[in-house]
Amino acid sequence: MLSFDTLLDCVDIEKVKALKENKVFLLTGFNGDRLVVKADAVNKAQLKSANWTMNAIDPRARAKALKDTELAELRLFADMGVFQLEMLEKSGINQVNDKHPMRELQGSPGWDGTGDFTWFKMEAHTLIDMEKAYTLAHRPGKNKPADLSHITEFCTTLKGPGGLERLGEIIAVDLFNGYKDRFYPGGGFLFRQWKAIVNLGNVMLIMDSNNNLVPSGLDAVNRESPTWKQQVTADWSGHLLSDIARRRTFAGDVIDDIEHIFAPIPPTARRFKTPEPALGKHSKSVQRLIDGMRNGVKKIIQKVRDKGDKLGSLSKVDAGLFERYRLVSALRTDI
Ligand SMILES: Nc1ncnc2c1ncn2[C@@H]1O[C@H](COP(=O)(O)OP(=O)(O)OP(=O)(O)O)[C@@H](O)[C@H]1O
Ligand SMILES: [Mg+2]
Repeated sequence: MLSFDTLLDCVDIEKVKALKENKVFLLTGFNGDRLVVKADAVNKAQLKSANWTMNAIDPRARAKALKDTELAELRLFADMGVFQLEMLEKSGINQVNDKHPMRELQGSPGWDGTGDFTWFKMEAHTLIDMEKAYTLAHRPGKNKPADLSHITEFCTTLKGPGGLERLGEIIAVDLFNGYKDRFYPGGGFLFRQWKAIVNLGNVMLIMDSNNNLVPSGLDAVNRESPTWKQQVTADWSGHLLSDIARRRTFAGDVIDDIEHIFAPIPPTARRFKTPEPALGKHSKSVQRLIDGMRNGVKKIIQKVRDKGDKLGSLSKVDAGLFERYRLVSALRTDI
């Protein structure tokens, strides 16, 4: 069986589909069980550090490096698959297809298990992402009508009970993790200059077990992510979490960006120059996001304390984690 909690074995894999060229693959088992594997330009310590904190608020976003034996199994699956393809091609049954997912899998980086690429696994989710949602709504392509379905799903989820708060928790973990590829002060450029969004593709909603969409912390690490052994630097984004003014400005920027994305959603009043906010009154949605950020920090603090208890002393947790914990908990009187 293919599952996050069991060791990957090539005999359990029936099919592979590339979700992103040479990088992200959906594996399907013989019972329809699914698992996602990804080769990313991070090391194991970075993956582990970022995920440890993200798990405090979103266990569904968990990601675990493949063990050497699992990596060998995946490689064997790719090699056998490509071998079969070649046989079929030689016998003229199949046409040569360079883009076959099996070849993409085999041609991916990180097989040596020693470099800066790490293969890891994740549970397979049903998800929608903001990049696609934005493109469908704002840039559907020539002569195509705008498709507002995905931005409407995003809007309903974020406006609904717990939606913006949950997004705030994810943002708090990202800032604590020094993760620069989702929301980050100063934003990024994709289609336009954003105030706080860097990578629209990493803003995702996933389907939970009750078939409700919820904001997700998937994809919580990249090559710049620190590990918990690394010291805090002056430009650490987590400083913002205990700076009330900076935190409010940043939350306001996040809401502004999201409102820009939601602007095409009716009612018609939103056609006017300053559209009615889709998420409700600006100050209210900003406050909801801040409440979520505060709660996200609280969950991190609690997780660090639990770890300290387990180890017998807080001073035994990794030095960089302890330092960050100290900084975000210093002014908290509510925990
Ligand atoms: N756990 C998962 N379950 C289902 N689909 C996934 C999962 N992880 C990733 N995907 C799908 O694969 C696509 C590419 O994945 P991902 O965003 O992780 O790539 P990426 O290389 O990290 O992109 P970027 O570098 O822009 O963040 C996603 O848009 C998503 O649709
Ligand atoms: Mg991504």
